[in-house]
Amino acid sequence: MTAFTVALVLVVAAAGLLRWRRPAWYWLAFGVTLAALRVLVRYRSVMDACGLTVPPARWRLSLARATNRPIPEPRPPRIRRLRPTRTGLVLRLKLRPGQDVFDIAAASDRLRHSFSMFGVTSREVRSGVVEVRMTGYDVLKRVQMPAETEARAMRVPVALREDGSVHYRDYRAIPHALTLGATESGKSVYQRNLVAGLAPLDVALVGIDCKQGVELFPLARRFSALADSPDTAAELLDALVARMADVYRLIRTQQRITVDVPDAEIAADIWDLPDELRPTPVVVLVDEVAELALYATKEEEKRRDRIITALVRLAQLGRAAGIYLEICGQRFGSELGKGITMLRAQLTGRTAHRLNDETSANMAFGDIAPDAVLAAIQIPAELRGLAIAGDASGGWHRIRAPHTSLRQAVNLCNRYADRTPDLPELVPFRPTTGTATELVPSAKASPATA
Ligand SMILES: Nc1ncnc2c1ncn2[C@@H]1O[C@H](COP(=O)(O)OP(=O)(O)OP(=O)(O)O)[C@@H](O)[C@H]1O
Ligand SMILES: [Mg+2]
Repeated sequence: MTAFTVALVLVVAAAGLLRWRRPAWYWLAFGVTLAALRVLVRYRSVMDACGLTVPPARWRLSLARATNRPIPEPRPPRIRRLRPTRTGLVLRLKLRPGQDVFDIAAASDRLRHSFSMFGVTSREVRSGVVEVRMTGYDVLKRVQMPAETEARAMRVPVALREDGSVHYRDYRAIPHALTLGATESGKSVYQRNLVAGLAPLDVALVGIDCKQGVELFPLARRFSALADSPDTAAELLDALVARMADVYRLIRTQQRITVDVPDAEIAADIWDLPDELRPTPVVVLVDEVAELALYATKEEEKRRDRIITALVRLAQLGRAAGIYLEICGQRFGSELGKGITMLRAQLTGRTAHRLNDETSANMAFGDIAPDAVLAAIQIPAELRGLAIAGDASGGWHRIRAPHTSLRQAVNLCNRYADRTPDLPELVPFRPTTGTATELVPSAKASPATA
């Protein structure tokens, strides 16, 4: 008996310690079973208390009266499936007549504490069937990506959503994206995660980092072209526009359409070409975009116009040629001058890290999801890396990228260095390798001087 008590105390202490230090392990070891039991046992009473039951059908009442049986109780939505996951539980419910998905959504906060879960979200799977995703602990506090993710061409896992699912950056679905955030909010870490995700794929990476290259130059071995100043950036972007024209020419010859068809009217893209002919897709990462749009002299103004025009052209026509833009900045509004709002309108994917004011948040979401604006300015300063990701459909999620250190990203880029394609147009911008490791210490010190 005493041995049993000691063992029990040890198990409880271990569970408590795990829950405190390693909630993810606690969840897998104990939490998931306890939570599933709790949900099943409390289900009916919780649904009743949350007002999610419907009175029994008339014929049941009449039948009960006729046969002198007890009056049937109000019925909650039927549980179709209860699926445990790495971070929580997924409950699939079949709604009763008269209920709708908004009832469940409105009650999600009540469900959350009634079931002692950390977070509850719901969405309609199909008419009358609702999926309620519950998380057992704060998955965004210490982000751990699942080992297995759904790999697909040009789609990289980049962050975790607050409901525990993986947030992907899908270049085929959303070709261009804008990432905003105040200084020290986690933009560069997010971008680093993207590079880490893209490194093993068959894709050319092009970087423009006007912070003298501190963020991207350490990753140089996986980059086909890099620019660290607005001057080089202007030439690099022109080279990309030229490449785009070449790719269109190639697609056109494959289509056997005459030369007078304008580029924008060609419906086909590089993915329609046979594998052996398909040009390598290019992802252009721009850190601190505002640096490219600022000018002090007439000379610089000309360069700025050239850069913005090239970016707008790439954003307008790049998708079909397999050129994707990934732009990061602290602000990206009309005060940066002509062409900026036009460029912003082309950047479908939006991610906002912590922002200092509502106008900056409006730059990210004002035109697509007004309620995301509020969510973006509510991000606490201490939770760096937390962001709101939205797209043109108006939907948005709270996400956080794993904290990939520069060292980890450098190692990954070096491991996949042999995958770096040589694009003839970009050869003059090919970074000279060898500086990669030397740059690491100075880049690590960069946040302090940013
Ligand atoms: N996802 C994350 N998880 C944990 N910590 C993070 C995350 N993202 C960023 N941080 C922390 O925040 C610091 C600043 O991040 P980062 O350099 O990405 O900011 P930034 O927005 O690029 O800033 P700047 O505008 O100055 O370049 C990082 O050094 C890191 O310590
Ligand atoms: Mg940065």
